[in-house]
Order: sequence, then C-alpha cells, then structure tokens
Amino acid sequence: MLLTIHVWRQATAEDDGEFVAVSPVEAREDMSILDLLDAVNETLIRQGDDPVSFDDGCREGICGKCGVTVDGVPHGPDKNQASCTQSLRAYRDGDEIFIEPMRAGSFPVKKDLSVDKKALRRVAKEAKFPVALKALGNAGCISCGACVAACPNGSGQLYVGTLLKELPPLAKTPEERNERSSKVLDAAEHEFGPCSLLGDCTEVCPAGLPLENLTAVARENLRRMNPEKYS
Ligand code: SF4
Ligand code: FES
Repeated sequence: MLLTIHVWRQATAEDDGEFVAVSPVEAREDMSILDLLDAVNETLIRQGDDPVSFDDGCREGICGKCGVTVDGVPHGPDKNQASCTQSLRAYRDGDEIFIEPMRAGSFPVKKDLSVDKKALRRVAKEAKFPVALKALGNAGCISCGACVAACPNGSGQLYVGTLLKELPPLAKTPEERNERSSKVLDAAEHEFGPCSLLGDCTEVCPAGLPLENLTAVARENLRRMNPEKYS
C-alpha cells in the first residue's frame, strides 16, 4: 500500500517543530512502526531530504528504547505493543498517518521523534541499580515510558508503582526497603505529574501491567507517613 506519513520534524530541543508530509511511502501490513519509519527515511533520502531521527533498539519489544506517538496514541494503534512490534494492519492504501514524539513534560524532544527519557532512570536510580532493574525486569517493565506519555497529567504512576511493588522482596532489611521506597517516591514526585486514576497507561503498556500496581504507591506513602502502623 502507498501511505502519506505526516512526520514530526524538529531540529533541536529549542526549536519549534512541525509535521511534514512524506509521500508516497510504500508499506506492507506486516511492517512495524519502526519499519515504516525506515521506509519514510528511504523516501526522504530519495527526495534529497535528511532522514528523520527516531529512537531505535532491539526491535523485539525488549529494550524499551523505541516509542513514538501514532495518530495520538503512544506506541501506536495495537494495544499493549511497543512501536517496534506494532503492525500496520489498521491501515489501508491511501491512508494518512501522523507520527510524532512521545509527548510528556518529563521527556524533552532531542531531535525529530527522538526524546530524552532519562527521567525514568533518575527515579529507578533511587532504588539503586541493579536492584531497580531487577525489580522492573521481574514485572516485565521495559522502561519505555509509554505510560507517562499516555497520561494527560504526565504521571509515571504505573512505572513507579511497578517498581515499588517489586522492591520489598529484593531489600535485605525493612530499613533498606523504607529508605529506597521513600527516595523513589520523592524522585517520582519531582519528575512526573500526579495520577488521576484514568487508566490510559494500561492501554499502551507493552508489558500489559495492571492498574492494581498503582496501589503500591499508596501503600509505600502510608508506610512512610506511619512506619509503626504499617511495618
Ligand atoms: S510500566 Fe509499561 S508503559 Fe510504563 S515504562 Fe514500564 S513497560 Fe513501559
Ligand atoms: S526497539 Fe527495543 S523495545 Fe522497541
């Protein structure tokens, strides 16, 4: 099929960006969104333009590096799939698709579709690496940031709740657990917006993590406020 792709172009973090139409882009149903961006770049290069920058990695839904917003949805139209494992089955010959960066106040655009998602690492770091990575890995979280981008408040509650839910068995002592959880809560409050329990995060999470994970944030906040009662 031949598509028109309206792709976000932004030279630097400081510049204003805009959608630029790229057409015709040849695509197949079994291509992923990243494959489609490769096809966009082939068209751009053929037309004498610079290729578009985007975050790329394993292309197997494992590393969490990829992620763009497709027609307003972080990662793309298929539920709970990373951009690199999405298909183009929803599209037909002649369709127009809008692709822009993952949007969140805590994810500044670096160039075109590439964003800085270090806010996630700054929060996880407070639980100490490699414990934090083990905790997230145990839950299947790939640290892609789609939950933050899907939330109108830019909340990272699904990511933070997942981290806090998995931390307790990995801490050597109750004191260590309390200290790490408390630091994660402070960092999350600093980096992300508040949660309004809208649930948009779970629709896009490639790991299919449930809304129940959010309760770990409330639990650790209660423990912090009243450690004697919630030991
Ligand atoms: S919780 Fe899901 S959407 Fe959020 S960073 Fe982890 S894998 Fe990505
Ligand atoms: S490129 Fe690794 S998860 Fe998409």
